[in-house]
Amino acid sequence: MKRIEPERMQSLLQAEQALYAERHPQSRALYEQGRQHWLYGAPSHWMRRWIGGWPIYVADDEARAYGVRLRDVDGNEYVDFCLGDTGGMCGHGHPAVVAALTRQARVGASLMLPTDEAAWVGDELARRFGLPYWNLTTSASDANRACIRLARMVTGRPRVLVFSGCYHGSVEEAHVELFEGAVRMRNGIHPNGFPHEQLSRVVEFNDVAALEAALRAGDVACVLAEPVMTNFGMIAPQPGFHDALRRLTRETGTLLIIDETHTISSGPGGYTKLHSLAPDFFVVGKAIAGGVPAAAFGVSQATAERVWQVLPQVPPTVRQSAHAGFGGTLAGNALTVAAMRAVLSEVLTEAAYASMLALAQRLKDGIEASIRSHGLPWHALAVGARVETMFAPAVPRDANDVRAARDAGLEALLHLYLMNRGVLITPFHNMMLCCPGTTAADVDRHNEAFEAFVRELVA
Ligand SMILES: Cc1ncc(COP(=O)(O)O)c(C=O)c1O
Repeated sequence: MKRIEPERMQSLLQAEQALYAERHPQSRALYEQGRQHWLYGAPSHWMRRWIGGWPIYVADDEARAYGVRLRDVDGNEYVDFCLGDTGGMCGHGHPAVVAALTRQARVGASLMLPTDEAAWVGDELARRFGLPYWNLTTSASDANRACIRLARMVTGRPRVLVFSGCYHGSVEEAHVELFEGAVRMRNGIHPNGFPHEQLSRVVEFNDVAALEAALRAGDVACVLAEPVMTNFGMIAPQPGFHDALRRLTRETGTLLIIDETHTISSGPGGYTKLHSLAPDFFVVGKAIAGGVPAAAFGVSQATAERVWQVLPQVPPTVRQSAHAGFGGTLAGNALTVAAMRAVLSEVLTEAAYASMLALAQRLKDGIEASIRSHGLPWHALAVGARVETMFAPAVPRDANDVRAARDAGLEALLHLYLMNRGVLITPFHNMMLCCPGTTAADVDRHNEAFEAFVRELVA
């Protein structure tokens, strides 16, 4: 195995930083201007997380064809594998999404009335993901919070169990991790006076014994889990883990929320359909409305019946009914439903997934070939259309393994190197996603840049 010299990394980083500065003066000026009034320099704090000192600003590009190519205000061109950290998984400017949005915007974006497409979308969500009842929200964070609220309502229990290394959005109960056996805030998140240790339990992914002990305490309303962990590198379930999770949650009267916001990359019905999981709640967001802020959660028959015992399902003529405790004036708005119909019927189709999965395999094969040929102790992992380069020799079992192999300097260098060669990957860890508009040439562009990176690194 090759060793990477720290001095070499440092000098490469300096050179790449200088190149980035040279090529992005207009983006830099826009960022400086934005800093006058945006709390974190740009409209969302995520946008300042890109390496380079300031984000690239995307140009208004009328001539752009559908796909993954972007141009910035300095005229640099990119192939986008970040895809809005999954929000853009349909590709940029898909004609079906553009047509649906244009059509519906003329009629009305937000009506607090269902449109004629709503029934079809409900049918399709149930058919695709296998849960009979659905509700729309404006984000996956909202959907997770709504599921947690319902789980607490029907079980009467206070706690939420999550896996160390998880991320489920702006969900207080999931802002925790295990570190040297103790619960602490994840990622430097401020605790904000919230009693996390009283309302959360955290165990390591794949640790069935710890999971069992935590659930047997009898105070956990629900487990909130991604089927494959995708937000701390990528951690795959070991054989039998999902069976154990489902068995133990059932035995202890705990509800199971499967959050497929990212693992929808697995296939048209997500990881759940592919692996016949049977969650009580199912969450999908980000890409489901083509990047229009939207998410959906599904509820199983048995869980819905329990919900209706607590909050009766009222006939339409009864106007006074209990509030579920989660709102969202814009949830399920007409624009969202129109975009969702387009995505579910014309964009994230079986055929599109077949192409996305094949390209993700090509991406992974290319990364692995470079790793092998240069003798580096790394590997790559895929979850359907999602690929992650991991700086560790073996697939991690849990967050401890990921932490042990993490190399922030190397991550920064890889991201900057790829950006300077016209390739965008997520600004956090090394995630890449293929969409229906990704081409083999796009993948090869990444793989060539990755090969050049590895060659320079070990030179
Ligand atoms: C698994 C998972 N769930 C939920 C969320 C939250 O999504 P949003 O920020 O759109 O609310 C994320 C965001 O990255 C996520 O990765």
